[in-house]
Amino acid sequence: MTNSRDSNSVSNEKVGDSDKPSHFDLSRRGFIGGTSAALLAAKSTSVKAQENSESVGVEPEVANVPKTAITVTVNGASHQTVVEDRWTLNEFLRDHLELTGSKIGCNRGECGSCTVLVDGEPVYSCSTLAVWADGKEILTVEGLEKDGQLSVLQQAFMEHNAPQCGFCTSGQLMSATALLEENPEPTVDEVRHALAGNLCRCSNYNAIVEAVMDASKTGGA
Ligand code: FES
Ligand code: FES
Repeated sequence: MTNSRDSNSVSNEKVGDSDKPSHFDLSRRGFIGGTSAALLAAKSTSVKAQENSESVGVEPEVANVPKTAITVTVNGASHQTVVEDRWTLNEFLRDHLELTGSKIGCNRGECGSCTVLVDGEPVYSCSTLAVWADGKEILTVEGLEKDGQLSVLQQAFMEHNAPQCGFCTSGQLMSATALLEENPEPTVDEVRHALAGNLCRCSNYNAIVEAVMDASKTGGA
């Protein structure tokens, strides 16, 4: 019985029928040599394409991106600057002001790790354009500490082990700060409701809520 796998088998040295040389008669060495040559040719083409794209000027397209002059106050410091209209607030804060406390988890308005306060309201900075912040006051997690002292809420987070991996912590802190500024004595349900837009992948929700409740009893945000 003929095994179809055997009949199609490929010897280590030859592909095809050795008695009938043809364009299918390809030695392994020849195959590898040919493949290497093809790869080198492809690489050369790719390098040339890259050189061509640089010479035709990708930069001018980037330079033509619409930009807008804005004035924002970030953590008490005023910034008059020009931003590209396509920048998110998170890009502006992290990449241009080097305030890397707000994190990018999902980059699509679902997790809350990028939360900052705009005029006291928590917003997802991944889903907010920097130009929309013109004339506004931004507070990031870097602005919670005063004179080298953690805020009451930050201290409570430490005491209750609220940060586990810590990735969500800055967003949790900002949402909880906004809550305590508006409602210094929230109920547990009100805390949970205020933090509903901040996911914690370590599932440390109980400790986070306890920390916020503790902060509310010992001096607010
Ligand atoms: S990174 Fe902004 S909501 Fe997730
Ligand atoms: S502490 Fe890890 S995601 Fe919240």
